[in-house]
Amino acid sequence: MVKDKCILAYSGGLDTSVCIKYLQLLHELEVITVTVDCGQNDDFEEIEKRSKEIGAVQHYYIDAKEEFINEYIIPCIKANGLYENQYPLGTALARPLIAKKAVEIANEENAKIIAHGCTGKGNDQIRFDITIKSLNPDLRIIAPIRDMNLTRDIEIQFAKEHNIPISTEVKKYSIDMNIWGRSIEGGDLENPFVEPPKDCFKFINFDNPDAGYLEIEYENGIPITADGKKMNLLDLLNYINFKAGSYGVGIVDHIEDRVIGIKSREVYECPAAIVLIKAHQDLEKMVLTSHEVRFKHIVDQQWSWMAYSGLWQDPLLNDLDKFIDATQNKVTGKVKMRMQNGSIRVVGRKSKFSLYRNELATYTSDSVFDQQLAKGFVELWGLQSITANSIAINLNKKENKGDEQ
Ligand code: ARG
Repeated sequence: MVKDKCILAYSGGLDTSVCIKYLQLLHELEVITVTVDCGQNDDFEEIEKRSKEIGAVQHYYIDAKEEFINEYIIPCIKANGLYENQYPLGTALARPLIAKKAVEIANEENAKIIAHGCTGKGNDQIRFDITIKSLNPDLRIIAPIRDMNLTRDIEIQFAKEHNIPISTEVKKYSIDMNIWGRSIEGGDLENPFVEPPKDCFKFINFDNPDAGYLEIEYENGIPITADGKKMNLLDLLNYINFKAGSYGVGIVDHIEDRVIGIKSREVYECPAAIVLIKAHQDLEKMVLTSHEVRFKHIVDQQWSWMAYSGLWQDPLLNDLDKFIDATQNKVTGKVKMRMQNGSIRVVGRKSKFSLYRNELATYTSDSVFDQQLAKGFVELWGLQSITANSIAINLNKKENKGDEQ
């Protein structure tokens, strides 16, 4: 009997390793694994070896770092992408790219089925399923962990029974990593009152009392230098992760609303993402009009929500990108930041497109601003508010008189 082919998005971890066997035994499929490199720094040879050992007939390694930077991270910087104003979307951005690569392999291999190791409790299932179906609606999706309601204990048991090689050390946390950041969940962190232990983090130095400066230069919304050195974005992200992390900058710890309704405690380590978005946002305020800033903020929030909630392929996201791109031709300039003990503050910015005018803002006699113009403006600006309040005051007076009689 010729078996059907199935493309499995394979990270090499417990969930997806168990999936290989389940797909073979339960669905009688021929499994082809795909590992997509978004900068997670794993041992990819080891992952390929493991996949073959468990029984995959073929394995693909895809280096998608460039594409991740150009098509996902850069748009995120331009959109100041922060879910719930905090999470720079590291995991959320990588999922649609992994799904896209899996679909490409499925098309190449003429496979009709794609599998992933997502649980039914998270956001990742949404990002995978919707991207896969958007790119090729004929593909069938199997998600063994979700379909069978599997838990970690059952998976470990199953792995032992079937000689699936899993790392013997019990992992303290569930960590997803790529160049845009690390997402850390599980273990002690499931108690939202417990402070994240230091061993969650890779870049953060908790014992550096010194202050340091970092200067980023942007061109059309894209960071091009750090501390005066021209670097490609991959090197720049690495540079900032280590530097900002050494001053304790880069931890996000918040209560997050997952799309499916669960509130979860999420911890992220993402120094570069935090620095680059903060500086970018500051520069925008210098070069965009107040109207642009206000409207773009709404667009940015919608963008972040769609990226978070698995709607990467929705036409609206593309439309928002076009608007955002149109605003970025002025986002060119430098931003200087000061970091100390985990805090970060913009302390300087400049741009050839700056709308800041010293001769208007100054309180010295260099000012060219005619204060007398303001009087009439203020009167008109407050007209309706003052009218509404005076009606209320008059009605109140009348009622009080009535009470006295
Ligand atoms: N809550 C985040 C998101 O939905 C991160 C999930 C991280 N996953 C993990 N295995 N640690 O994007």
